[in-house]
Amino acid sequence: MPISYNEGTRCFHLTCSDFSYVIRLAAGRYPLHAHWGAPLRQIRDDLLGRLSPYTDETFSLNELPLDRLPQECPVYGTADYRPGMLGVRHPDGTGALDLQVSGWRIFSGRAELPGLPGALGDGAETLELTLKDALSGLTVGLYYTLYADCGILSRSARITNGGAEPQMLTRALSCCVDFEGGDFRFLTLSGSWARERGIVLRPLVPGMQGTASLRGASSHQGSPFMALLAPDASETSGEVYGMALCYSGNYLAETDVDQDGNPRALLGIHPEGFAWLLAPGESFCTPEAYLCYAPDGLRGMSRRFHRFVRRQITRGPWAASPRPLLINNWEGTYFHFDEDKLLSIAGAAKQTGIDLFVLDDGWFGRRNDDHSSLGDWTDDLSKLPEGLAGLSRRIHGMGMKFGLWVEPEMISPDSELYRTHPDWCVHAGQSPRTESRFQLVLDLTRPEVRDAMAEQICAALQRGNVDYVKWDMNRNITQAGSACLPPERMGEFFHRYILGLYDMVSRITARFPDVLFESCAGGGGRYDLGMMCYMPQAWTSDDTDAWERCRIQYGTSLVFPPSCMGAHVSAVPNHQTGRITPLETRAAVAMGGTYGYELDPESLSAGELETITRLNERVRAWQDVLLYGDFLRLVSPFEGTDCAWMSVSPDRRRAAVTCVFTLARPNHKPGLLRLAGLDPALDYRMEDGRVFGGDELMARGLPLDAVTGDFQSRQFFLTAL
Ligand code: DGJ
Repeated sequence: MPISYNEGTRCFHLTCSDFSYVIRLAAGRYPLHAHWGAPLRQIRDDLLGRLSPYTDETFSLNELPLDRLPQECPVYGTADYRPGMLGVRHPDGTGALDLQVSGWRIFSGRAELPGLPGALGDGAETLELTLKDALSGLTVGLYYTLYADCGILSRSARITNGGAEPQMLTRALSCCVDFEGGDFRFLTLSGSWARERGIVLRPLVPGMQGTASLRGASSHQGSPFMALLAPDASETSGEVYGMALCYSGNYLAETDVDQDGNPRALLGIHPEGFAWLLAPGESFCTPEAYLCYAPDGLRGMSRRFHRFVRRQITRGPWAASPRPLLINNWEGTYFHFDEDKLLSIAGAAKQTGIDLFVLDDGWFGRRNDDHSSLGDWTDDLSKLPEGLAGLSRRIHGMGMKFGLWVEPEMISPDSELYRTHPDWCVHAGQSPRTESRFQLVLDLTRPEVRDAMAEQICAALQRGNVDYVKWDMNRNITQAGSACLPPERMGEFFHRYILGLYDMVSRITARFPDVLFESCAGGGGRYDLGMMCYMPQAWTSDDTDAWERCRIQYGTSLVFPPSCMGAHVSAVPNHQTGRITPLETRAAVAMGGTYGYELDPESLSAGELETITRLNERVRAWQDVLLYGDFLRLVSPFEGTDCAWMSVSPDRRRAAVTCVFTLARPNHKPGLLRLAGLDPALDYRMEDGRVFGGDELMARGLPLDAVTGDFQSRQFFLTAL
């Protein structure tokens, strides 16, 4: 039984071959955290340590030394002085809660969380623990969903006002995990626009540390993810505890190391500015947090997350299919194009074997720069004489697919939409409306705004007969507020915005079930598992420089598989860094994700076009391994000057290896690159005909040849004999 309850020890045991998670009911009704880690065959009472004494049902809340006990659902205001998972303000302004377990059940699948994205729940089993505060009537459903085949435990909560008075929820995190000691290190992903998701590793010291977003989106600056690493943990070994949130808005991922050196890890919607009014009978659901215990290092954690993302998060016809090789005109033309130019880009691309032409920003309203027209999704006939319909017809006529860029959440003050509906943007009363990239954010908390935008966007996708959509979002929220929310509900704004976004995205994607959707937010500014539930790939970063991308994709790969990472070859000198890198290196790095181009092929030489044709054939032949194989990081660009990774097919018969070198080193004696994930009993042939044993390649390594020139790369494609 993956989930069981033992009356003798008062323990719930959630287990699979990868881990055990144990919850102990103190005094028969207070859920304490007993274990998360290596799988246990059974739980003996006297091994429960500091949790052991409190079995007697006569213990009351007042007698439990909560400040020193590991808990499942702590609330600030009890004798636990650490930050809690939930917070509430009763009608009298106080916030005390005495949450006691009032029931539990085990069921197949996962709990529905209305309005929120989440894992599919296929093959899963869930424990629901119901807690109740007798005085207020507030109940909390704690959900623990076990994905045994992926080694993942999902946690979420549903808070319901079962009393007669309104209650204000002031804090509603998705999970709390209290660790015992551990001397951990803390890993987060941090960065900025064009340098998203860099790996940051620091010691976990007493007090609070964390990563968060207060921007209204999961952000370029951080990622709703954290990991605790045991002292000896590395890429390839040691215990790692990863936690990732399925959410696209403000989040908090925080640790608090207490007086005894015990870390508490909290993950969920950021409490800053959050207040949710629960009228009698109303419920609030928290997003799912995914917990991954890996005894085999960061690589083991990523392997489990990748499998989970592929099996339970991404869905629809594209989730496991070959993805089209695309060309996007953004860096090739920016706003300056007409139909002839687009057709000649598409024509040249088609010659090299590219399948999909994507028309980026600038096709609508009067949008010749970023100053206007967001919200007016009508074709600019001065650029496209027969509108999207005509362009799409011609692209399809070439035997290519047609894709379109949209930014449905935004409004330009210089737009017909704004002139007609000046109150449709996010704003705070009479406060100034701060523009960013000359635009404001539409108030997606309002159903009529969502309806109007969904109608316009669907009409554009329909008339363009599109095969692919790039859904962009280019600014964060300021002066948060809605003209339609009453004052006592204004604290709901940020979460209501995200619920509105999910509503609009789910409606539009459902209307076009066969279309491939790629999410984007000025690059990787909303790169999270929430958006991945609707769109199986996301533009990883606006930085297309090959070396920068090594770092960005390496950090991103901690949680996300290559099938989620939009990665394109762009022109040199690179538009973000001015760096010149070889075409083969740019392609090798783009093969680490969903492959495409972001340039004007007409500016390339005949030789470069020939190279691109050859590279496209290679991508097509190896895409199943590159996108859906086991992804293994080999050499970290955060630790040295080079970077390497590989992907291995599930049957371990094919593998693609990529190494990227930064600056050339004179008099350098190249070494061996140790591979991983191969079958030691098999022999592998490389493309140049050399044959090596899987055992040799993993124990000794693949011999690398000398490299001259900066930013060179090598790729090796291995096939078992
Ligand atoms: C930001 C995106 O990340 C870019 O790829 C491009 O689509 C621009 N927006 C267009 O405005």
